[in-house]
Amino acid sequence: MTENPAARPAVALLGTSTMGAGMARNLAAAGLPLTVWNRTADKARPLARVGARVAEDPAAAVRGAEVVLTMLFDADSVEQTVRAAREGFAPGAVWVQTSTVGVEGVERLARVAAELGLRFVDAPVLGTRGPAEQGALTVLAGGDEELRPLLEPVFAAIGQRTLWVGGVGAASRLKLACNAWVLTVVDGVASSLALARDLGVDPRLFLEAVRGGAMDSPYVQGKGAAMLEGRHEAQFGLGGGVKDLELVLEAAAAAGSDAALARAVHDHFAAAAAAGRAGQDVSAVWFAHEPTRPS
Ligand SMILES: NC(=O)c1ccc[n+]([C@@H]2O[C@H](COP(=O)([O-])OP(=O)(O)OC[C@H]3O[C@@H](n4cnc5c(N)ncnc54)[C@H](OP(=O)(O)O)[C@@H]3O)[C@@H](O)[C@H]2O)c1
Repeated sequence: MTENPAARPAVALLGTSTMGAGMARNLAAAGLPLTVWNRTADKARPLARVGARVAEDPAAAVRGAEVVLTMLFDADSVEQTVRAAREGFAPGAVWVQTSTVGVEGVERLARVAAELGLRFVDAPVLGTRGPAEQGALTVLAGGDEELRPLLEPVFAAIGQRTLWVGGVGAASRLKLACNAWVLTVVDGVASSLALARDLGVDPRLFLEAVRGGAMDSPYVQGKGAAMLEGRHEAQFGLGGGVKDLELVLEAAAAAGSDAALARAVHDHFAAAAAAGRAGQDVSAVWFAHEPTRPS
């Protein structure tokens, strides 16, 4: 029996940093022909060892690819990179946009896709560096249903689950709701640890008290322990957290949704970023919870 070539579409991945590197390894491990590019080439070169072709520029990366994934910082960096790749796109190529770009961002990028003649799929992901490395992301996907069979092996390689949520834009809106939650939880853990500390209780007892209960989660224990042990290597970069909270606030304002909580969380993340923590993990929001002396 001859193999259906669509089962292994040629893939290009633009962006191989915290998230993209793990995704690339899993795409290659799944046997998909893969070309990668990253602005800082040192982050892409090691992927040659897992069988990826490493391209020198975005246009060379997308040449011949049926599916092009973008995993870059924000809508501006995605737009810039895709425009730089324009000469290389194969006719009918499908652009799967996995970065977190918000509501205005996804609408803008869909317009860029139309202008460049690309078929566009809005596909932000849930999960941080660990799940990206393990091929265990959750893909929130929106776009033309006809593209599902082509994309199935791609999403199966990077994720444990794909949730199709409708047309372009719905997935990016859902992603904002998910990230508002994740970042509120991280800030909530920091806030309760700091309160325990400031009330003269060992903050480790907070993690012990909630352990195994209905409000516990691996994220609560993992981020809480990282805060108390001073481990802040980026799994989900704090600068990205600030960017996502800005997208949440912008979208909430446009929709007339109450955003008082997201505003407070944003202000803590922005304070930690201003204190030089943008390159660390979101757990470094802990540093925005220093005690203030009573007057
Ligand atoms: N980390 C997470 O937990 C997580 C989870 C889900 C979704 N996301 C989203 O996924 C995306 C990538 O996240 P990440 O954690 O991998 O981010 P990251 O480690 O900060 O990497 C950002 C990437 O964007 C590139 N970039 C930035 N500005 C650029 C420009 N002007 N032109 C070309 N490339 C540019 C960087 O290139 P250089 O390497 O050259 O700097 C790098 O490849 C973001 O939208 C993020 O919000 C992250």
